[in-house]
Amino acid sequence: MSAKSVARGTRRGTARLTGKLLGSFGVFLQGAIENPGMVGALFPSSKATVQGMLQLVDWKGCKVVVEYGPGIGTFTRPILELLPADARLIAIDTNAHFIDHLKDTIRDPRFKAVLGSAADVEAIVGAAGFGKADIVISGLPFSGLPEPLAKSIVEASYRVLKPGGGFLTYQYRLIARRLTEAVFDRIDTKVMWANMPPNNLTWGWKAA
Ligand SMILES: C[S@@+](CC[C@H](N)C(=O)[O-])C[C@H]1O[C@@H](n2cnc3c(N)ncnc32)[C@H](O)[C@@H]1O
Repeated sequence: MSAKSVARGTRRGTARLTGKLLGSFGVFLQGAIENPGMVGALFPSSKATVQGMLQLVDWKGCKVVVEYGPGIGTFTRPILELLPADARLIAIDTNAHFIDHLKDTIRDPRFKAVLGSAADVEAIVGAAGFGKADIVISGLPFSGLPEPLAKSIVEASYRVLKPGGGFLTYQYRLIARRLTEAVFDRIDTKVMWANMPPNNLTWGWKAA
């Protein structure tokens, strides 16, 4: 075993211990301090952001939902509360601590946490045994991503969605909204002031 993988294993062990001692917020803070550019926030989204973002979706009709950048599961748990019994939620995050934390704390047969990049969403959804998704919800820090990567993630999200599907983003800046508007057939927007800092909510809809 290389020194690098021993160090990685030790960090993942420490993160699991942090989760036990300080709870989910401690895990989020540790992730944000270790990877500020990739996490892009010091606080998880507010309850108002979660409720505001989720309310425009007909969850009863969903079979496959994909979440990018779940972090400690601020959206993941409320989505699972809304999803039908036969639906699936696939959460994709590049941060191993967050994926470990989700696997440790969410025991739900409908849920799958994948360590990987949103850029590979089509392969990840395919490997999970599905062709297309009803909803993709993204917590990615778009302003910290290189523009070509951000653009290719939005385009891959369009391709992986069924007709009538939705791509949801909540961002402090307007980059995700601009990219969504360029790729999707129609958008809805809202500013959520009850968040620190305020969030721009965007729903991109693929034509039915
Ligand atoms: C601002 S946090 C969002 C956390 C959570 N969804 C919330 O609302 O509180 C951004 C998340 O995106 C993840 N992330 C960054 N780049 C990613 C990528 N290319 N693919 C998947 N996840 C990524 C980070 O590890 C982090 O968990």
